[in-house]
Amino acid sequence: MPLRNNDKSYGSVAKLLHWSMFLAFAAVYAIAIYMSYLPMGPSLFETITLHKSIGLLIMGLALVRIGWRLFNKSPALPADMPMHERFIAHAAHLALYAIMIGMPLSGWAMSSAANFPASFFGLFTLPSIMTPSKEAVDLLKAIHWYAAWGIGALILAHVGAALKHHFINRDTVLSRMLPFHKG
Ligand code: HEM
Repeated sequence: MPLRNNDKSYGSVAKLLHWSMFLAFAAVYAIAIYMSYLPMGPSLFETITLHKSIGLLIMGLALVRIGWRLFNKSPALPADMPMHERFIAHAAHLALYAIMIGMPLSGWAMSSAANFPASFFGLFTLPSIMTPSKEAVDLLKAIHWYAAWGIGALILAHVGAALKHHFINRDTVLSRMLPFHKG
């Protein structure tokens, strides 16, 4: 399988980045839900640290992914796809890229405002990007919480669109992103 994308399929680097991002998002959401059931104490603290570390991993992966994307044209969408669907697909992808950076950034800002510096899997601690403030923590917490629901809905719509292409339109839009599809 070629490393780079071509006209017909995504290359192995884009696929690896796409599916690792999927796993990282699944983990960060599952941990967030688990966290909400934990009482205050050391295990909540450890779980939040893991949530932050995976969030930061998502941001790092997103930067690599955006860099790779800038030098690798994505395969063309099916020729018979209507203009409005093309527009929605591009806008949704752009929004997903913005989320991969924006959501971890809001978490990092929240940690800084709460004076709880974010650590990356205990390997190093990130610098603070905000001065500590209770009002800022409350605002960022609300943004992070509502955004999580909005993003979840967008990801579900993205998955739904991929399945519609595969089972209704019967084109290659989903299969060319699958790990073992040769293109
Ligand atoms: C079961 C989960 C998922 C499925 C089935 C899926 C499916 C796909 C498919 C088929 C494409 C290629 C679309 C095309 O050829 O134009 C794609 C692209 C993309 N996906 Fe997903 N995806 C999933 C999860 C995610 C997640 C969790 C994210 C990030 C939050 C994400 C972000 C993106 C982005 C940004 C692109 C555009 C790639 C480009 O720039 O060309 N996907 N996805």
